Amino acid sequence: MYKFDRTEYEKRMAWYTQARFGMFIHWGLYAIPARGEWVRSTEEITKEDYMPYFDEFDPVDYDPRKWAKAAKAAGMQYMVLTSKHHDGFCLFDSQYTDFKSTNTKCGRDLVREFLEAGRAEGLKVGLYFSLLDWYHDDFPHFGDRNHPMRNNPAYKNDGRNFDNYLEYMHNQVRELCTNYGQLDILWFDFSYEDAYNQMRGEKWKATELVNMVRELQPQVIIDNRLEVSGDGFGSLWEGNPTPYHGDFISPEQIIPPNGIQDKNGNDMVWEACVTMNNNWGYCENDRFYKPAPMLIKKLVECVSKGGNLLLNVGPDAKGNIPPQSLQALSEIGAWMDKNSESIYGCGKAGIAKPDTGRITRKGDTLYFHLFENTIGPMPLVGISKDQVKYIRNLATGAEVPLANSWVQNPYPDIVFADLGPDPVLPDPVDTVLKVQLK
Ligand code: GLC
Repeated sequence: MYKFDRTEYEKRMAWYTQARFGMFIHWGLYAIPARGEWVRSTEEITKEDYMPYFDEFDPVDYDPRKWAKAAKAAGMQYMVLTSKHHDGFCLFDSQYTDFKSTNTKCGRDLVREFLEAGRAEGLKVGLYFSLLDWYHDDFPHFGDRNHPMRNNPAYKNDGRNFDNYLEYMHNQVRELCTNYGQLDILWFDFSYEDAYNQMRGEKWKATELVNMVRELQPQVIIDNRLEVSGDGFGSLWEGNPTPYHGDFISPEQIIPPNGIQDKNGNDMVWEACVTMNNNWGYCENDRFYKPAPMLIKKLVECVSKGGNLLLNVGPDAKGNIPPQSLQALSEIGAWMDKNSESIYGCGKAGIAKPDTGRITRKGDTLYFHLFENTIGPMPLVGISKDQVKYIRNLATGAEVPLANSWVQNPYPDIVFADLGPDPVLPDPVDTVLKVQLK
């Protein structure tokens, strides 16, 4: 009977909830068609018609140290790369398949270089690993919810041996956990059901898989997608953790409106994974990039709700992060250079969200994130004057005095900060007031 060890769990999660901000990287053969990482499924491309991308793949500009530097400069503390996505292409030198990067023109173990580059930049490193594998003959094809050949009766599942597939999948996870040094995160993706199968939990032989992972990588943090996908929470949330419970909940392309609490109302560890445009993998025509100011505010929102943000980049077929993503990372980094103290190790403030922005908290320090100015002195609702030791502009360290104007006389119980005569905030995106409590 599995016994959840809360002390061990909290020790394992400490760096992660301190880090708050990471880079997700979706990269592989699908960068060549450049229509997103699901292109084989959405366009129902046969394996034969997908192989030319394998024959062509040659990321001449791949330099993961550049990726790691860009992540670090943006204030990201960890990076997670797709070691194998649903198409089954392995970015690592697996002994169990020929469908791998070391057999392409580049001949490189892309995962190994990635992990080494991330560690060299002092970042925590993780790998995404797809539970689905549309390349493997023993994975369900016809009738499966997602497989590229799901609608093609020529691909019925007679003779497919799912246990063979599971042995293959477990062997590859063992390779990643054995041959590549310490992994800080294993990001499995994803569990689902369709008319034929419940593809979750023990269907993946998840207990055996996680026991093996934890034996080889005892410190590794694992997501909740051996049980669910972005649309569910999992057994830790249920209060009845399985041996393969996720260590964090993985809302996708959404920020949980109220953070995430378990069934008993206890705050849970969660990480919102979000794309910069609308695709995980490189998509040439998707130019709908979220502006950097928006991404900064979304990072603050995640932290203010007790969560992490895993922000995705999708490098192109040559190995370059798109310029729009690099520009956003640079702008985020400029803000983080001045304000990361209000992100790292911070969480919910226990105070209602103010009109003018959001609040993050670390112990007896509050960070009022001002996304907009107010008329007159700035109200700091939720604290009392006798609690305040001092207020500073976090970016500059400058003292911010308490306001003492007649206009606030009707509101004696509210603390007001005096931001001076300029109606334009020093940082138009997010000016952070550090409020040190006594
Ligand atoms: C969804 C997508 C998958 C992506 C993942 C990232 O599962 O299907 O392509 O890798 O989200 O969270």
